[in-house]
Amino acid sequence: MAKYVVFDGMDGSGKGTQMKLLEEKFGDSIVFTREPGGTPFAEEIRKIIRDNPLAGKSTALNNFLLFWAAREELQHNLVVPALKVGKHVFSDRGDSSTYAFQIWGEEHKELSHLFNLMRKHVFLERQKPDLYIVFDLPAEVARERAMQDASREKNHFDTRGLAYYKRVRKGFREFAEHMPVEFIDATRSPEKIHRSVLMALAKNMIIPELALVVD
Ligand code: TMP
Repeated sequence: MAKYVVFDGMDGSGKGTQMKLLEEKFGDSIVFTREPGGTPFAEEIRKIIRDNPLAGKSTALNNFLLFWAAREELQHNLVVPALKVGKHVFSDRGDSSTYAFQIWGEEHKELSHLFNLMRKHVFLERQKPDLYIVFDLPAEVARERAMQDASREKNHFDTRGLAYYKRVRKGFREFAEHMPVEFIDATRSPEKIHRSVLMALAKNMIIPELALVVD
């Protein structure tokens, strides 16, 4: 059975490096994608959300809905078709981000009910993620790294204070109360983190054969 795995974490957690390592290891045998984005239309929505300053000025509800709009598009046109033909899907971010960033980070708890509804509708008759792998960092380290990363184009997500990062981390922890989440200590070297990711994929029966090569 094909599995759907979401990789998530705070900006600066090294998630990008880990996704690259996984792509190098598994290549075309797995469908790699990202949120927001992953299909032509969802990539257009990504541009609006991330790069258009008007999005930053819009309401919390609008931003929340835009993330879900991109997700619906991705589910319908990429995730479900891939799973149907038996291919695993590994996604860079997913609904765990909406929960951690919009509901917790930006303190819009009033959207929790809608979050559950959107989840039911967007994942309805389809497949919810089988596993979330969250690259975990102390808020101080995450913020420092995000600020120092000169290669990152600064957008309106990159100008937050420490309290915001703390809330986001708490958001991921709350998410894990109800969902299948594996936290990976992202303060370590990329090699060690990669190994932990492979172990998590084996342990959670995403790619059980990996248990033979990592222990
Ligand atoms: P990234 O692709 O470089 O990780 O950037 C995506 C940004 O969008 C990142 O700052 C997290 C944010 N985001 C949300 O706030 N909510 C979401 O639901 C998703 C998928 C991403």
